[in-house]
Amino acid sequence: MQSSYFSSLPEMGTDEVFDLIKAFSADKYPYRANLAAGVYCTDDGGSWPLNAVCRAESTLHHQADPTRHDYLPIAGDTQFLKVAQDLVFFFEENPQEMAIRSQERSLRVASVQTVSGTGANHIGAQFLVNHLNTNQVWVSDPTWTNHHIIWESVGKKPRLYPYYNTSNNCFDFHAMMQTLEAQARPRDTVVLHACAHNPTGLDPSKEQWMAIADMCQRKQLFPFFDLAYQGFASGDPSKDAWAIRYFYKQCPFIEMIVAQSFSKSFGLYGHRAGALHLVLADESDEIKGRAVAHLCHLLRCEISMAPKFGSMIVKTILSDQELTAIWLKDLQVMSKRIKSMRHALYHELIRLGTPGSWEHIINQIGMFSYTGLTPQEVNALRQQSHVYMLTSGRMSISGVNTKNLQYIANAIFKARQI
Ligand SMILES: Cc1ncc(COP(=O)(O)O)c(C=O)c1O
Repeated sequence: MQSSYFSSLPEMGTDEVFDLIKAFSADKYPYRANLAAGVYCTDDGGSWPLNAVCRAESTLHHQADPTRHDYLPIAGDTQFLKVAQDLVFFFEENPQEMAIRSQERSLRVASVQTVSGTGANHIGAQFLVNHLNTNQVWVSDPTWTNHHIIWESVGKKPRLYPYYNTSNNCFDFHAMMQTLEAQARPRDTVVLHACAHNPTGLDPSKEQWMAIADMCQRKQLFPFFDLAYQGFASGDPSKDAWAIRYFYKQCPFIEMIVAQSFSKSFGLYGHRAGALHLVLADESDEIKGRAVAHLCHLLRCEISMAPKFGSMIVKTILSDQELTAIWLKDLQVMSKRIKSMRHALYHELIRLGTPGSWEHIINQIGMFSYTGLTPQEVNALRQQSHVYMLTSGRMSISGVNTKNLQYIANAIFKARQI
C-alpha cells in the first residue's frame, strides 16, 4: 500500500488558549475556573449578548429584508464601512460633537471589510509585504500570539521590541524606544496595540504615544494599529481610539493601517465582523481606488467576501442614535465589571497576605492581567485548584466573578507557597 503524501508532515504545535479551553470543558470539578479565554463573561460566568445587539437582531428580524442572505460586495458593505471608519476616527458620545467631527471626515482612508480583527491583521500584513515592500516587522515582547503566526504566514518573522519589564510589572517605554531608535529602519512595520494591550493590559500614556508617533514619522516607520478592544477597555470608544486619532490628526503625512475588530466591543465573537483601514498620505481618489482594488484582490482569493450578519448588527446599531446610546451603556457594564473584579481580586490577595506585590492588577486595563505568576505557579493553579490560565501568567479577568473570586485568590495564595 502506498503511504500517504502527508506521512512526513512535521508535528504542528497547538494553540495554548484552545488547549486550555478544551481541558477546562472536560474538567468536572465544581469550582473550576476558566481564566484563559478572551471572552466577556457575566457575574454568573455566562456569555452576554449585548442589549444593543439583541435590539438590533430584533429590528433585523422584523425588517425581514429579502436581500439579507445575499453576498456582500468584495470590499464589504458600504454603510458598515462608513460607521466602522467613523467609530475609529471621529466617533464622540455627544451627538453634537459627533456631527462636528463628521464634518472633518477626510477621504484619506481606504477601507475594506474583513473576517474580524484576525482577517484584518492578515490582509494588512499581506498587503504590506506585497506593496510597501516592508523590511522588518516589529511586534511587542510579549504580544498576541497570533501576530507571530500571521506575519510568519506572509514570510516575515517578526522582530521583538521590549515592552514589559518583569521586575516591576510595568510598561518599559524606555527600552521600547531605545530598541526601535537603534535598530528600526525606514519602511519597517511596527505593530502597535491601540488600547488594552494583549497580554499585558499596559498601554503607553498620551505623552508616550506622542513620542512613538514622532519616532515613526522621523524614522519613516509604518505603524500598524491593532484595534481589538475599542470601548471595551475604558468604556469610552473615543478615549480608546486616542492614539490612532493622534497619529491620524497630528501626523498628516503618516501612512498607517488600522485592523479593527468588533468581537469584544459588540460581543460578536463568532460573527467575525471587522474592517481594515489603510490611511494614506493624501486624498487622491486614484491612489485610494487602486489600494482598495489590491485589497479586494487579496480578499477575493481568500474569502471572496466577508460574513454579513455581524456587520449588519454593527451597522444597525451605529446608524441609530438610540441603539448607539444603549451600546454605550453596554460598554460601561462590561468595562466596569472588569475594573471592579480587578480591585476585588487585588484586595482579596492583600487580605490573604499573598506574597508579592499586586498593584499591577489594578493598574492594567482591558480583558487581561499579566499577573507575574510563574509557569510553575500557573501549573500549580491548574493541578491543585482547577484554575486555568496561560503559562505566561496572563489571566482573563472576565473569568473572575463575585462567586469565584475568593476561591481564585485562595488558589493563587496556595500556588505562591510552592
Ligand atoms: C490583540 C488582538 N488583536 C486581534 C484580535 C482579533 O480578534 P478577532 O479575530 O476575534 O476579531 C484579538 C482577539 O483576541 C486580540 O486580542
